[in-house]
Amino acid sequence: MSSLKIQSKHAAPNELTADVIAVGVLATGKKGEFGAAVGVLDEALGGAIAKAAAKDDFTGKRGQTLEIQTLGRLEADCVVLHGLGDAETLKAEAIRTFAAKASRCAQAAKAATLALVIPEILEKESRTIGEGLELGVYRFTKYFTGDRVPKHALEKVQVVYASKASAETKKQLELGQKIGVAINRTRDVGNEPPNVLYPESYADLAVKMCKEHGLECKVFDFKEIQRRGMKLLQAVGQGSTHEPHFVHMTYTPEKKARKKIVVIGKGVTFDSGGISIKPSAGMGDMKADMSGAGNLLGFMEAIAAIQPDVEVHAIAPLAENMPDAKAYRPGDIWGSLDGRTVEIVNTDAEGRLILADALAYGRALQPDLLIDNATLTGACVVALGATCSAFYASTDEAGAAFQRAVDAAGETMWRMPLLEDLRDQLKSDVADVKQAGDRMGGSITAAMFLREFIGEQKHWVHVDIAGPAYLDKAVGWSGKGATGHGILTFLALVEQAAE
Ligand code: BES
Ligand code: MN
Ligand code: ZN
Repeated sequence: MSSLKIQSKHAAPNELTADVIAVGVLATGKKGEFGAAVGVLDEALGGAIAKAAAKDDFTGKRGQTLEIQTLGRLEADCVVLHGLGDAETLKAEAIRTFAAKASRCAQAAKAATLALVIPEILEKESRTIGEGLELGVYRFTKYFTGDRVPKHALEKVQVVYASKASAETKKQLELGQKIGVAINRTRDVGNEPPNVLYPESYADLAVKMCKEHGLECKVFDFKEIQRRGMKLLQAVGQGSTHEPHFVHMTYTPEKKARKKIVVIGKGVTFDSGGISIKPSAGMGDMKADMSGAGNLLGFMEAIAAIQPDVEVHAIAPLAENMPDAKAYRPGDIWGSLDGRTVEIVNTDAEGRLILADALAYGRALQPDLLIDNATLTGACVVALGATCSAFYASTDEAGAAFQRAVDAAGETMWRMPLLEDLRDQLKSDVADVKQAGDRMGGSITAAMFLREFIGEQKHWVHVDIAGPAYLDKAVGWSGKGATGHGILTFLALVEQAAE
């Protein structure tokens, strides 16, 4: 995977040698006051910036941009001002989006080099800026040929600081870039078509990534899945010629671990719905039904870069949900790794089944916190829209810790309740539990089904990423397609645990 060459730089704005100069501008509330760097550039351009700003009502409001062609008066072809809004309300989400938009716009303008001038108050946010720069240039072009192969890519970025960057600032910038590259790896696997990305090929990617980054990786094939009694994973996966797999990646810190965290990800590499087949419109998007598992690849790559004093396990149950003579059916009763039996009512509610076995496996590691993330329900998207995840927590302590991580990372997630009133929906006349409840409250009952399989595990958080994992239009620092949404929150959570 190609990545940017990012350097820190301390230079006068009018002496920068880059194709595009992008400047982050705080909203001061005072007309035409955009800080010293813009002042210098404006002077070099004979007042063109002030004039264009007045004409376009550019005030530095968050999300506003203003582009000025230099017409040869500077080395750069153009100067772009990016509004950052009020300094007091400037948080991770907006900072990352600023950097991503700057690199994305520069790449779209066919620039090879970008100078990103950042206001002094953002110097300590270098990690977030490094993340954003790398996330902004992401595109999935691997299957293009001939004219469709992109001829231009942004190659180099100078991050321009008001004073000389400290060693710590440089380190944070570099770490941010590594995290951005890791998230882009997750985006790549989410965008891969399901004929290329299936359980076994995911496992191969996991083994390769773990080898590259010094992580441990165990893979169970179909035989081993059956031998261990992961019956629900078997049920979901047996209708496909691509056999189910199970992947367990581990990061062990050099120093004594302060905490142990297990993160599980749903890995349905294609969800046709099985015998309870889905309508064909939009079915192709179900290639991204492995986004929970996809997140684990980027997450673990980033963990290897951060090296926290926390033991981290990432667990992916992988299956392709297909209709077939061998496929499981509505009406079936299956056992599970937990030992309890499940009445199948709809083969399209497959995610919770493979997660149930993964939760039973994960809880045996006795972590301080057990997390799962999954593109689990359409009901979640109905409840919160396409840009927000739902999370559920077994304890308020875990819920509060997770909320802190969400806030630090700047991802959009909302805590939902495990409503005991709905529990009856999962009662079965013929097995220990029924797989699914009614349509109403579908995200909640899915979470409550999962809770049935956490056993003695106290702290557990379930994240339903069905909406934001895969977008049909660009939002914030993510373009169309697979996003890697969730990774940053899980990283923040692990870093919190290391404190
Ligand atoms: N993978 C889907 C959920 C989904 C829907 C993810 C839309 C992303 C976007 C899941 O396996 C599913 O089909 N869930 C069913 C459950 C129902 C049958 C109880 C759903 O949400 O309709
Ligand atoms: Mn489904
Ligand atoms: Zn699914």
